[in-house]
Amino acid sequence: MRDAGATWDEVAAALNLPRTTVFDLYSRFKRTPTPFTLPDFPAENIPIEEVIDLATRRFEYMRDSFDAHTWFEITMPTDDPIGLMWFGDPHLDDNGCDWPILRRDVELCRDTDGMFGANVGDTTNNWAGSLVRLYANQDAGVSTARRLAEWFMLDCGVTWMIWVLGNHDAFDGSSVLLEMAKRYNTHKLVLHDWEVRFQLVFPNGYRCRIYCAHDFKGTSIYNKMHGPLRESLMGDDADLYVCGHKHESGVMSTENTSRGHDQHLLRVRGYKAMDDFARRHGYKEQRTGQASVSVIDPLERRVSVFKDTRDGARFLGMRRSEVRDAEEA
Ligand SMILES: [Fe+2]
Ligand SMILES: [Fe+2]
Repeated sequence: MRDAGATWDEVAAALNLPRTTVFDLYSRFKRTPTPFTLPDFPAENIPIEEVIDLATRRFEYMRDSFDAHTWFEITMPTDDPIGLMWFGDPHLDDNGCDWPILRRDVELCRDTDGMFGANVGDTTNNWAGSLVRLYANQDAGVSTARRLAEWFMLDCGVTWMIWVLGNHDAFDGSSVLLEMAKRYNTHKLVLHDWEVRFQLVFPNGYRCRIYCAHDFKGTSIYNKMHGPLRESLMGDDADLYVCGHKHESGVMSTENTSRGHDQHLLRVRGYKAMDDFARRHGYKEQRTGQASVSVIDPLERRVSVFKDTRDGARFLGMRRSEVRDAEEA
């Protein structure tokens, strides 16, 4: 308007602003012609509109993937009872890793028909930052630790159903484990950061909802199962809640009348023993429950939990042979 000959008063009235404000803005933003000619510089980056479009698409991918990974379905081919062996925190490279029991459980899981493995996290110590000094306390260095993790994930003979990353796995961004998970046989291994929620779906229509987290929120000095119990009462509904992290074990089963079904809570101790940290904080170490077994029986529409892996394997074998005998009769 000003360039077309309008007065300052006319411009101010048209914009409904004080005359001084209009004059001030005009002075600040009017172009001062340069006394020479500059090149027409190209932009140094892609237009911000394209960055925003890409960020929008990235968010849509992330959201859709997150939704697909939350309460995803694992479809079982038959109605035969199956077992899940929940391996507690392995800490494979720690000098205190209880290899005699770990090897026993690995072999039991590998050799039991219908048994699958699940890892609740803290596969290695994976020291990082100022904690790197703690490698001095263990015989396995980083490369041996990674080889142990590779053996556990890819070569120990366990058919893994899921892996969860614990706080130790996340110290370095979990990059090594994530890369290995993509190479697991010909299939991807489902490997989630901290928690995984999924449903086992059987041909007869039975669904078993399982919520596994490295740990659930909440502690009580009177009840080791406080965290998973809290989640079962106030959080996502599931038939089975499993966690590790605190290096102690426990089993609790109850019928939740508000939810209208049984709920089973399981905490696995893991394999790290003779722990300096525990000793200095006055924690007495448990000697059992390094791993536990849940048997999911679609025919009985029931979950059973066994603190001792050998009891779980025995029960699974018995139920599977009962089913086989019934089919042959
Ligand atoms: Fe741990
Ligand atoms: Fe942990």
